Amino acid sequence: MATLKTKVLGIDFENPFILASAPPTAKIECIDKAFTLGWGGAVLKTITPDDLEMIEASPRYGVWKLNNRICGFENIELLSHLTVQQWLDGIKYLKKKHPTKVQIASIMAPVVKDEWQKLVCTFNDSGVDAFELNFSCPHGMPEKGVGMAIGTSVEISSMITKWVMEVAQKPVFVKLSHNVTNIAEIAKAVEAAGANGFAAINTVQSLMGVDLDTFEPIPNVNGQSTYGGYSGMAIKPIGLRCVAQIRQNSNLPILGIGGISNWHDAAEYMTVGADVVEVCTEVMTSGYIIIKAMLQGLSDYLESKGLNSPADLKNRAISHLSAHETLNKQKQAYPHIDDALCIRCTKCVTICDESEHSALSLKDGHIMLDTDACVGCSLCSHVCFKSAITMK
Ligand SMILES: Cc1cc2nc3c(=O)[nH]c(=O)nc-3n(C[C@H](O)[C@H](O)[C@H](O)COP(=O)(O)O)c2cc1C
Repeated sequence: MATLKTKVLGIDFENPFILASAPPTAKIECIDKAFTLGWGGAVLKTITPDDLEMIEASPRYGVWKLNNRICGFENIELLSHLTVQQWLDGIKYLKKKHPTKVQIASIMAPVVKDEWQKLVCTFNDSGVDAFELNFSCPHGMPEKGVGMAIGTSVEISSMITKWVMEVAQKPVFVKLSHNVTNIAEIAKAVEAAGANGFAAINTVQSLMGVDLDTFEPIPNVNGQSTYGGYSGMAIKPIGLRCVAQIRQNSNLPILGIGGISNWHDAAEYMTVGADVVEVCTEVMTSGYIIIKAMLQGLSDYLESKGLNSPADLKNRAISHLSAHETLNKQKQAYPHIDDALCIRCTKCVTICDESEHSALSLKDGHIMLDTDACVGCSLCSHVCFKSAITMK
């Protein structure tokens, strides 16, 4: 029987699905409900010193929908509005009621040693199991020198990590920004500064859209907007890439985040190095209840593969990742057209023709392949809406 139990830095997770720091973890009652429904833990909505002023904008969300499904989600929300004392009371309450659930305190402070150290010392004995340092929020609040302003600087990230490590009595994960040229460089720097692990990724800096009647960008806050943070299924490829690049450069544990909406996404994150995964947007748009299918799906998958636990999945894809120049280019894949599924719409013919290769044609009522012209790029298989083309 496969187990979903996972141990990371001595912390026991009853399952590897935890809530990311965001609105679903902004209120004690909400976290309470999520734990009851089966989530293995929660990263609390980012806690800041009480005197850090934060005024929210409205509206603060924008979405990209396809067939009525939210694929991409942008927010310009700031950080937690609970006071430090409210968090201390809440963490204690949750620990007593749900002793097996993991609570991770996400923290952020101005770039002042005392401020960071005070926050860490306040929460050391609060009942939290670990810290997550938020160095990566794209809009909250770089103009005050925090969030992504920290995570895009090797020097500031390292300095704050050192301050935190001087006083932290719990494991410390650094939540990295993907909005950098080389995420591995920052990862190596914070590891050298003493971090115990990483969390990646935060939201991706974005501009959701523009209303073409008024020329006002979205979300429209009384005629103005600002760059926000993009999340949800659209960012999964970016998150996977970042986690893989961190794993290729470090053996420290990783909390994988970004576009995880089901067990399958979570398993993929584990194969590129994640120990545990965090979920935000899918919970915000579908509810805590998605945990049921995630637990069942991952468990069934592990069983079907003969694996004992999520740890057995970890890093499985890493050895299959290499530089382009080292890929085996001796064998070429060709499209195989299933005549029974094909409806002869000739979309593949047009697309192939207009995207360089002209390898497909309609002859005698069948799609024919010119193997000399085909380069095996796979575009035809992706645009066929009948799934009649597979690469062999
Ligand atoms: C509305 C909203 C608020 C968020 N607030 C925080 C926050 O306070 N601290 C933080 O570290 N990340 C915050 N995030 C980022 C998420 O924790 C997560 O890293 C990101 O959304 C990617 O995961 P997802 O694709 O599952 O949403 C927020 C995300 C959203 C959508």
